[in-house]
Amino acid sequence: VGDQNSAAAFDWLDDQARSRVEAGLRRRIVVRQVGDAVLDLASNDYLGLARDPRLATAAAAAAGTWGTGATGSRLVTGTTDLHRELEVALASFVGCDRALVFSSGYLANLGAVCALTGPGSLVVSDAHNHASLVDACRLSRARIVVVPHRDVDAVRSALATRPEQRALVLTDAVFSVDGETAPLAELAQACRTHGAALLVDDAHALGVLGPGGRGLSAGTGLAGEPDVVITVTLSKSLGAQGGAVLGPAAVIAHLVDAARPFIFDTGLAPVSAAAALAGLTALREDPGLAERAQEVSGRLYERAVRAGLDARPPEAAVIGIRIGTPDAAIAASAAALDRGVRVGCFRPPSVADGISRLRITARADLDDQDLERAVPAFEAAAIAAAVTASRSGLVRPEGPALTTSG
Ligand SMILES: Cc1ncc(COP(=O)(O)O)c(C=O)c1O
Repeated sequence: VGDQNSAAAFDWLDDQARSRVEAGLRRRIVVRQVGDAVLDLASNDYLGLARDPRLATAAAAAAGTWGTGATGSRLVTGTTDLHRELEVALASFVGCDRALVFSSGYLANLGAVCALTGPGSLVVSDAHNHASLVDACRLSRARIVVVPHRDVDAVRSALATRPEQRALVLTDAVFSVDGETAPLAELAQACRTHGAALLVDDAHALGVLGPGGRGLSAGTGLAGEPDVVITVTLSKSLGAQGGAVLGPAAVIAHLVDAARPFIFDTGLAPVSAAAALAGLTALREDPGLAERAQEVSGRLYERAVRAGLDARPPEAAVIGIRIGTPDAAIAASAAALDRGVRVGCFRPPSVADGISRLRITARADLDDQDLERAVPAFEAAAIAAAVTASRSGLVRPEGPALTTSG
């Protein structure tokens, strides 16, 4: 084997890296420092539970009892009484028959969509759905129709004109970049009219929307319905790690037999199952947490608008801010960080319409002082975005219309 050939195997990566740099799309891994004084408005820790001592104590106890890993897949050695307890608690909290825990929300989506569809079925997916649902579509081998964002008529038409008998409609409950909600009641009605099932990804709604934070599906009266499947992550409001699918008993039994990310993946670490259980208990014991996250979200939105940012009124704990070019978004988030506030920076392909954004996320545990601290950072971000845009001669350009996000 020639040395020259082996050295050239990944040369093409240099070209790709160069074009990403030119487009402002290079990604950088950011290492958080212990005890840094930065105000975090970028995480998905909506209820501030990720550093709650109750969760840490439960996780430490689980490590003492079960060790540091699940040791095998759920069907071999990876199920402990903590997994069982978590599944029962999640199903009862959200109001579904059963739940099945996966090692991430991403895999819960892959598992549910692929096991419930397949060749000969139709999947209808919102154009702004999370990347895990997009990838699930690609893996499913079903016929995929990507419908315009929140367009219930397009869903109806895709369902009504299908030759396939089986169909599954996919939607985020709260869309992860702009934080807007899906028209769940109308989607459920469209599914019912046309004999389809509905899968709702409640990742950003669990802990924030619905009664006591039970999610938007529960809040819309859909949890527990025979034609509705809900997916959640344990890594946002619940302050832990992992994911779950909730739905009718027959669906969950089918996933145990057929969902490859359940069967062929090492089970969720017992440490994370224990933390998620403790997070769920904390939420049950303080149902006001969800409202507090929403209230903080409203107050952050007011401050962002006052600072001159093009923020979208929040419906949950996520506030999307349209910036424009990737460079302007990077400059804006860097300016906020210089003022001690971390905000999310979303660029293609994470934005379905190609318009880069900042994303501010609320936390129930933020106080008045935190909110005031955010103001100069938002102002600095607005100025940095405007300066960068004017330097490149572009003010909020329309990006290419993509059909899927992720
Ligand atoms: C809407 C949505 N679904 C699923 C996921 C994946 O969940 P996890 O991080 O647990 O894999 C995320 C984000 O991470 C998300 O935003």
